[in-house]
Amino acid sequence: MKKQLIFFFFFFSFTALVSSSYFSPTDHYLVSCGSRDPTIVDFDHRRFTGDASKSAASQFLTAPSPGRSIELVDPNPAPNSSPLYRTARAFTKPSRYAFAIQETGVHHLVRLHFHRFTNSSVLESSTPQFHVLANGFLLLNNFSLGNEKKDVVVKEFILRVDSDKLEITFVPAERSNFYAFVNAIEVISSPKDLITDLAQFVNSERNERIDGMLKSSFETLYRVNVGGPKVTPFNDSLWRTWVSDDSYLEKSGENGATTLGDVIRSSGRIQYQAGGASREVGPDNVYNSARVIKSLNDSVPKSNITWVFPGINESGSKYLVRLHFCDIASIGPFSLYFNVYVNGNLAYENLDLTLITNSLLASPFYADFVIDGSSSSSGSLTVSVGPSNFSLPHAVDALLNGVEVFKMSSSFGSFQGEMCAESVMRSWRRGNVGVVLPLLAAVFLLLTASVIVQRKRCGVAGDTIGWSRLPVDVSEVNLKHPGLQSTTAGKL
Ligand SMILES: *[C@@H]1O[C@H](CO)[C@@H](O)[C@H](O)[C@H]1NC(C)=O
Ligand SMILES: *[C@@H]1O[C@H](CO)[C@@H](O)[C@H](O)[C@H]1NC(C)=O
Ligand SMILES: *[C@@H]1O[C@H](CO)[C@@H](O)[C@H](O)[C@H]1NC(C)=O
Ligand SMILES: *[C@@H]1O[C@H](CO)[C@@H](O)[C@H](O)[C@H]1NC(C)=O
Ligand SMILES: *[C@@H]1O[C@H](CO)[C@@H](O)[C@H](O)[C@H]1NC(C)=O
Ligand SMILES: *[C@@H]1O[C@H](CO)[C@@H](O)[C@H](O)[C@H]1NC(C)=O
Ligand SMILES: *[C@@H]1O[C@H](CO)[C@@H](O)[C@H](O)[C@H]1NC(C)=O
Repeated sequence: MKKQLIFFFFFFSFTALVSSSYFSPTDHYLVSCGSRDPTIVDFDHRRFTGDASKSAASQFLTAPSPGRSIELVDPNPAPNSSPLYRTARAFTKPSRYAFAIQETGVHHLVRLHFHRFTNSSVLESSTPQFHVLANGFLLLNNFSLGNEKKDVVVKEFILRVDSDKLEITFVPAERSNFYAFVNAIEVISSPKDLITDLAQFVNSERNERIDGMLKSSFETLYRVNVGGPKVTPFNDSLWRTWVSDDSYLEKSGENGATTLGDVIRSSGRIQYQAGGASREVGPDNVYNSARVIKSLNDSVPKSNITWVFPGINESGSKYLVRLHFCDIASIGPFSLYFNVYVNGNLAYENLDLTLITNSLLASPFYADFVIDGSSSSSGSLTVSVGPSNFSLPHAVDALLNGVEVFKMSSSFGSFQGEMCAESVMRSWRRGNVGVVLPLLAAVFLLLTASVIVQRKRCGVAGDTIGWSRLPVDVSEVNLKHPGLQSTTAGKL
């Protein structure tokens, strides 16, 4: 009974092995900004189109009236830098790229590439600092590379797109002395199974199923290949980058005993099954490595492996934590049982991969957990796996293959706290009026300001620009369907 409930609760039914045909996205745009070459091939053998080339210029950049955008070329690129980072396009006024979307109603991966230019003499007197909007989502607010440690920053968003156009707008932080820029843009329609509607909400009081993931949008914060090397876009079905887990491992136990576990690598075939993770959810290179806790004698080890992800602490924001499992370590089925903790809270008790995967080893599975940004006391997200009451001696007693952490968009389509697309555009327009406002206009503004502020706060105007909101708020689930509360992993 106990196991059955846990099984149903993730709504997976593994049926048949999936043939390994490769995913080919319906919408697939790769744009190299500021480049006049028709084709730019990057280090992962991907073909980008130069947005200043004859074939593409008018296709993507829809608001490039003369003087509005500037093609930047790095005069001395570092010899090992990607060809994508040798050119950029800069904007001194709001400017827009538009992409025709054929597959609406599904999520699209949007990647924005930014590379620090050592020499942009054209724009010497101004600072690169800007906002980025996409179909009413506020992706980046007052973004600048100044706060980033690296020279290249790639921001990835997984946006639900319901209209037949995706418009990405770059807005300089302020009217003068600031400019926006971008080196490359990717827009890729995702496979339907990349996002599933259900997830498990976990905090110290509750562990309950919620829905609404399909209506939400996400910003990728961490993507980690546990126990394995970095996976580059070349080896990923959706051209993602997965980094190794070394820098996220907790080395000294703050929550009980901590171990680094053992690294396991497998060269065997990963058995993708319908209903489980597909190759698009996680590639072979993620599932064929893991960290495990092993019992070598008659006792089960009393420790966890813990990973720590800093900065998952914005109160009012929700985060999606996707954990990837694939039992490449057990010798046979029915020997691996373990607990999964998120922020120290029991997220999944006695996880039994054998049961979930129809007794097939090396068959991947993932679980989605949603947490509140305010739920972590340390300001960091912790993920732990460790032995459970069912764990067996002389067996593998905990395992993890991969972790992804996403920030969820707010109900008014923002990834940037209280700010939203409308407020950013409003403040730009306000700057347009000039320093000296005619007195009458000022009085008028004062009189109407309070009304406007009430009505046009973030979100109220959102419908007109197509943001999507979570239809079922977590607190609503709790209030309206108290029955759901009892289906918690911890209580089963
Ligand atoms: C910056 O670029 C300008 C022209 O594009 C060039 O004259 C100048 O030497 C460059 N400076 C450096 C430091 O590379
Ligand atoms: C953006 O940064 C500028 C200058 O640093 C600041 O004046 C402005 O208030 C910021 N705007 C937002 C919306 O955070
Ligand atoms: C792709 O993966 C294979 C096998 O894991 C590895 O040998 C190869 O170096 C990887 N290629 C790149 C470009 O990362
Ligand atoms: C593993 O971590 C959880 C959550 O922090 C904790 O409750 C449990 O006691 C830990 N187990 C061991 C063996 O330290
Ligand atoms: C089992 O091995 C661990 C170390 O691997 C050791 O700490 C423990 O005492 C051993 N237990 C028994 C019953 O031998
Ligand atoms: C959130 O995390 C960031 C990055 O670790 C840190 O700078 C900030 O102080 C944290 N804020 C809170 C409220 O803990
Ligand atoms: C697991 O063991 C602990 C400690 O013995 C106990 O508190 C807990 O209730 C047990 N869980 C289950 C599901 O039996």
